Amino acid sequence: MSRAIRIHENGGPEVLRLDDLTVPEPGPGQALIRNKAAGINFIDLHQRAGRYPLPRLPVTLGMEGAGVVEAVGRGVTTASVGDRVSYVMGGHGAVPGSYADHTLVDGEALIRLPDEIDDETAAAMTLKGLTAHYLIRGAYPIEAGETILVHAAAGGVGLLICQMAKVLGARVIGTVGSEEKADLASAHGCDHVVIYGKEDVAQRVKALTGGEGVPVVYDAVGKDTFEASLASLKVRGVLVSYGTASGPIPPFNIFELNPRGSLYITSAGLAWYTRSRAELMERASELIGMVATGDIIVPVRQRFSLEDAADAHRALEGRATVGGSVLTL
Ligand SMILES: NC(=O)c1ccc[n+]([C@@H]2O[C@H](COP(=O)([O-])OP(=O)(O)OC[C@H]3O[C@@H](n4cnc5c(N)ncnc54)[C@H](OP(=O)(O)O)[C@@H]3O)[C@@H](O)[C@H]2O)c1
Repeated sequence: MSRAIRIHENGGPEVLRLDDLTVPEPGPGQALIRNKAAGINFIDLHQRAGRYPLPRLPVTLGMEGAGVVEAVGRGVTTASVGDRVSYVMGGHGAVPGSYADHTLVDGEALIRLPDEIDDETAAAMTLKGLTAHYLIRGAYPIEAGETILVHAAAGGVGLLICQMAKVLGARVIGTVGSEEKADLASAHGCDHVVIYGKEDVAQRVKALTGGEGVPVVYDAVGKDTFEASLASLKVRGVLVSYGTASGPIPPFNIFELNPRGSLYITSAGLAWYTRSRAELMERASELIGMVATGDIIVPVRQRFSLEDAADAHRALEGRATVGGSVLTL
């Protein structure tokens, strides 16, 4: 048998249920992974609550995991039985499935891991690290010397963006929700930390940039930071909106982008920046290289057993986590 955290209906953390399932067999193009750790991501909360509808229920949650290949179906060439791998569950419309002892993963999604990267690190860095990578190398490619604004800078994705941006030579302004988170962000590449709620973000950004503003804001907080993000941009700056942790952004009249300085907004998603195996592996190789050499570290700050997945969800939606969180298996 194989344990899995499934939802049979949408709702709060209480709908997470530990079920015993038969170990699945890989079909053509699939690999069976014996997970060692599963990453917890904000998207899991959206899927659980029904804000991001899933194609069917019941379903095993979890978009990211790491473990060992236990079996492969016909045609899988990306990894062999016994290899250590991590993965992000497939693109738009794909079902999740990593909160489990076993997961069937599309062979094209497998990323082989070097010995230097342990299972928990891999489970916390694959979805979040690929996201940080596409944001600062793809959605708005940062150039050395630029000053950037990163919201929720002490979060799972946030801490990785800050560190990668430093590797690229950027100056990083990060926002966080508390003093404790401010210290952590500073220790991971944030040159200036603003505590939103206490300070006016746009005013601080303008003061730190000689009144000009930043060329890019990476914003996954959404509703609560949208206005501050626009107000922090310089002329022709880019708001990269990639999440809505505080709630969806209300309807917005795009004409307003003109008087504010011909601003740009993009709503970005990882699946659109890992569309082919080649693009996925290009990002993954660079990410793995940065982690394996110690250029960036992946702080795994919360660990939960599989049966405590609901506690992990409560902590993440209660803003009680920093860095990455994993389920250990
Ligand atoms: N589009 C993509 O490709 C993509 C991929 C991965 C993740 N994401 C998005 O990136 C964001 C970060 O994901 P993550 O898994 O690394 O989570 P996380 O950043 O570790 O956690 C979310 C953080 O958002 C902040 N926040 C502000 N208002 C909040 C509220 N009302 N409720 C809860 N949190 C709030 C909190 O930090 P403070 O207390 O410091 O404010 C919280 O710790 C999420 O919005 C996620 O959906 C998008």
